[in-house]
Amino acid sequence: MKKLSIALLPGDGIGMEVVPAARKVLEKSGAAAGVHLSFEQFDWGSDHYFRMGQMMPVDALERLRAHDSILLGAVGHPDIPDHITLNGMLLPIRRGFDLYVNERPAYLYAGVESPLRGYEPGAIDMVVVRENTEGEYTNVGGFVYHHLPEEVAIQTSVFTRHGCERIIRYAFDLARRRNQKRKVASITKSNAQGYGMVLWDRIFREVSAEYPDIETESLLVDAAAMNFVRRPASFDVVVASNLFGDILSDLSAIVTGSIGLAPSANLDPRRNAPSLFEPVHGSAPDIAGKGVSNPLATILAAAMMMDHLGEPEMSASIEGAVRAVLADGKVLTADLGGRSTTADVTAAVLAHLA
Ligand code: NAD
Ligand code: IPM
Ligand code: MN
Repeated sequence: MKKLSIALLPGDGIGMEVVPAARKVLEKSGAAAGVHLSFEQFDWGSDHYFRMGQMMPVDALERLRAHDSILLGAVGHPDIPDHITLNGMLLPIRRGFDLYVNERPAYLYAGVESPLRGYEPGAIDMVVVRENTEGEYTNVGGFVYHHLPEEVAIQTSVFTRHGCERIIRYAFDLARRRNQKRKVASITKSNAQGYGMVLWDRIFREVSAEYPDIETESLLVDAAAMNFVRRPASFDVVVASNLFGDILSDLSAIVTGSIGLAPSANLDPRRNAPSLFEPVHGSAPDIAGKGVSNPLATILAAAMMMDHLGEPEMSASIEGAVRAVLADGKVLTADLGGRSTTADVTAAVLAHLA
């Protein structure tokens, strides 16, 4: 029997609701597929910070490295500044394991209403490929000059040829693998940011020459935001820097119905480290603890994880159960216009897995 070990990091807020939901789905699906999944749950996050003064222990990465994969809920607490929680937990895992790809698919499922008029199921089908280790998130060389008459803060971005090239190449390979519209859109702001973004544009042109079978477009991020709303069905693979990919993937999530449906995969394609799967959304303190969060984004992230771990049938059956729940339309959380709870939706997915 194939054995896989999964590290669970529920984290904060609704992370503690949606990760146990996805675990139930994985357990049932693994049993049916004859895959033995073992789980180790780590209680890292803001409660850990309140108790121990840090979001996770110093040997966290070593302990995670012992697992085949990581499933994370969310990080963020209203009583701790976000730059402390996120730089204490999620971002150091992405960077520490060099998980340079953040793949964020957005698909309009049957039974789900887009806030945009006139789109049939499947008509919107794109993936935001977000650079996940450098760019605007590096936080190196930053500084706040408190002593100046006017306080001055320096926030740097770092773009390397290595970093740009590998994410852009991943995007082109993905467009080939998906074999859908065979298009890659590259997003920058090189009209205002004349260094990193100009390097990115240049490398995009260079790499695109190696993929003559893939159509390309280069968009400024402001126009891209507009076009995600104006012509979302025209996009296939969208490659963007860390910050722009972050922003655009909330937008791609809502045009396909809800952020409660959007999964993501933080990948090291070379597989030198365990990859990390999570919903695109955060800890949602406004609804945390009420049992009404949508678990489907995390369940779909679990499906992406099984595909990455070489179990495409498990992945397809989990995604199929989610599709069935959505198409049925009777058991939905409030973000999708329903009145059901996290537990109801999880039970419905489990029932369709049978
Ligand atoms: P958020 O994604 O947590 O919430 C935005 C809105 O979407 C809220 O109204 C929330 O109720 C709703 N929502 C999110 N997920 C939902 C779900 N599964 N079901 C139903 N509704 C859902 O974003 P935010 O409010 O900007 O951030 C809250 C906290 O989460 C902050 O501390 C932020 O830093 C953190 N955050 C963490 C991650 C992560 O861990 N990957 C991602 C985004 C935000
Ligand atoms: C995400 C989140 C994080 C990010 C934050 C919480 C640091 O918004 O995963 O999309 O920007 O990467
Ligand atoms: Mn985000």
